[in-house]
Amino acid sequence: MRTAAIVPAAGRGDRLGPGVPKALRPLGGAPLLVHAVRALAQAPSVELVVVAAPVDDVHTVERLLADFEWGAEVVVVAGGVDRRQSVAHGLAALPADVEIVLVHDAARPLAPSELAEAVAVTVRTRADACIPVVPLVDTVKQVVGDQVVRTLDRSQLRAVQTPQGFRRSVLAKAHAWAATADPAEVATITDDASLVERIGGCVVTIPGAPEAFKVTQPSDLLLGEAFLTRRRA
Ligand code: CTP
Ligand code: MG
Repeated sequence: MRTAAIVPAAGRGDRLGPGVPKALRPLGGAPLLVHAVRALAQAPSVELVVVAAPVDDVHTVERLLADFEWGAEVVVVAGGVDRRQSVAHGLAALPADVEIVLVHDAARPLAPSELAEAVAVTVRTRADACIPVVPLVDTVKQVVGDQVVRTLDRSQLRAVQTPQGFRRSVLAKAHAWAATADPAEVATITDDASLVERIGGCVVTIPGAPEAFKVTQPSDLLLGEAFLTRRRA
């Protein structure tokens, strides 16, 4: 079964502060996007990586990625106005014979290729959709304004990472639902697995990895530099 990966990389990185789009910001001497594509391309199952780039930077990203030998085909498309639409643009660019699709944030540059492979193998062998998850370390409370409403049972909660993996038909159906559903409802959905859940699909979890953390704010880059230093030691 042919496996491809879509990399939503079209975000601005507002929470990281002023600068180039987040996927192009450096970590250990290379843009976040380069790290993310490398990990996917090194996963044995992944034959094609489709990057959804910021609309104004498609050619910049094409030139950047052309400088590397990846071990998989790499294609760049223009991203959309939000993450969901960037993934949809990637989906639209997949060849007809791709049956398994990974979706992986450029903002998670150090996710190990072993994690991508484990997600792909899980979908291939036993699931419509598979997501890597990690236990929560903080106590989690529901609040309204500054008032605590209740404390959630942390033991039942998981934080969700990428790469997430899907049967292509299931992901396409979920995105087709989102394209016509109530925009207010769709706006509350922050990942692809949630779209699959919403259409009644079954999503299984596998253990995530500390290195698959998301770069969101400046301190996350410090963590990334530390992981890279350890990796290179
Ligand atoms: N993303 C995308 N297209 C968008 C918005 C986001 O492809 N229109 C991607 C980002 O590039 C990132 C992933 O979705 O790889 C997760 O989004 P997030 O961490 O929110 O990144 P940004 O949107 O770039 O950051 P911010 O919200 O701080 O601006
Ligand atoms: Mg964002």
